[in-house]
Amino acid sequence: LNDVELTVRHRLGSYPVEFVPLAKAMARIEGPAFVVTDENVFAAWGHHIPQGWPVKNLAPGEEAKSLAMHGLILEWLADGKARRDSTVVAFGGGVVGDLAGFAAASYMRGVPLIQIPTSLLAQVDSSVGGKVGIDLPQGKNLAGAFYPPKAVYVPVEVLSTLPPRQFVNGMAEIWKYAFVLDPSLADEIVGLGRDSEEGPLKTVIGRCIRLKAAVVEEDEMDVSGRRAVLNFGHTVGHAIEVVTGYGPVLHGEAVSIGMVAEAVLGERLGVTDLGSAALVRASLRSAGLPIEFDFPGNLGGLMAAMSLDKKAGESGLGFSLLTRLGECKLVENVAPTEVEAALKCL
Ligand SMILES: NC(=O)c1ccc[n+]([C@@H]2O[C@H](COP(=O)([O-])OP(=O)(O)OC[C@H]3O[C@@H](n4cnc5c(N)ncnc54)[C@H](O)[C@@H]3O)[C@@H](O)[C@H]2O)c1
Ligand SMILES: [Zn+2]
Repeated sequence: LNDVELTVRHRLGSYPVEFVPLAKAMARIEGPAFVVTDENVFAAWGHHIPQGWPVKNLAPGEEAKSLAMHGLILEWLADGKARRDSTVVAFGGGVVGDLAGFAAASYMRGVPLIQIPTSLLAQVDSSVGGKVGIDLPQGKNLAGAFYPPKAVYVPVEVLSTLPPRQFVNGMAEIWKYAFVLDPSLADEIVGLGRDSEEGPLKTVIGRCIRLKAAVVEEDEMDVSGRRAVLNFGHTVGHAIEVVTGYGPVLHGEAVSIGMVAEAVLGERLGVTDLGSAALVRASLRSAGLPIEFDFPGNLGGLMAAMSLDKKAGESGLGFSLLTRLGECKLVENVAPTEVEAALKCL
């Protein structure tokens, strides 16, 4: 990915993912494009948006990923006379990427989409792979589409203004790649911070993007079970987000706790090599990520939330569990009693 671009193939074609400084990325886009961003990103980097392009500047936060906001963006596009060939630019973190992406997927049944991810989480994860969508009051990401972008431009310099907690939050997904796909990534991650040089940052971000792209190319529509490896820590993680009401615990933080819990669960079930959970826990702690949660105090709510997970079936819950470090498999029909037992002893 350093200098050389990566191409992600999908059912309708392919798109490039490239490291491009923000100014250059904007200059490459045919205007006037419709830019969706949020107030934090706009305050720090909005001056790079070319004059005259319509900008939708959202209040930051997960609340923006709503049906109401989806509707407002579609109407904003219509009011701005966006045409079938008008480009929508998702300029922000994963919230903006998912929301603007879904608007691009649905306006006139699909207009060109460019992702310019600005958070670490969005750069290593959400901007690649074509999943876009919104939350419903009933649950997270309950409406959406598989809608590949025309291109993903990754400007690493914008990470310099990312709040430290948000940087650490993104580290959770980076550790996830190390745990489920490539343990050798760990050597590159240790010591990585927001103020690291661009070189090491690009090395890690690039490796994560390659890992995700390879999985997504194998299972674009999330049907074979391959793409589910990216869900390690997410069954428990999403449930933590639900019981805490989306916000107090950030996505990566919840996934961090979830990875520890699911490693312990895997060991209990005999799926995961013994000792893996201890390593997962130590790695995440060293990154400054949370690894503890009041599981016993939230057991009812967590179990209810997990039963609504996409991987849950008739007779039990579904988890992407480590077999050993660097390998993961989808385990379905896990008895809720087993899960409760694992969570209680954490
Ligand atoms: N589509 C996918 O495949 C996928 C994968 C993972 C996560 N997601 C979604 O992504 C969302 C989380 O993404 P996120 O963590 O990026 O959250 P986010 O978009 O809310 O961004 C986090 C915070 O950082 C701020 N920010 C972003 N870039 C900044 C910058 N360069 N400088 C200063 N501030 C900046 C934002 O304003 C926000 O306050 C969730 O909704 C999750 O469901 C989607
Ligand atoms: Zn995630």
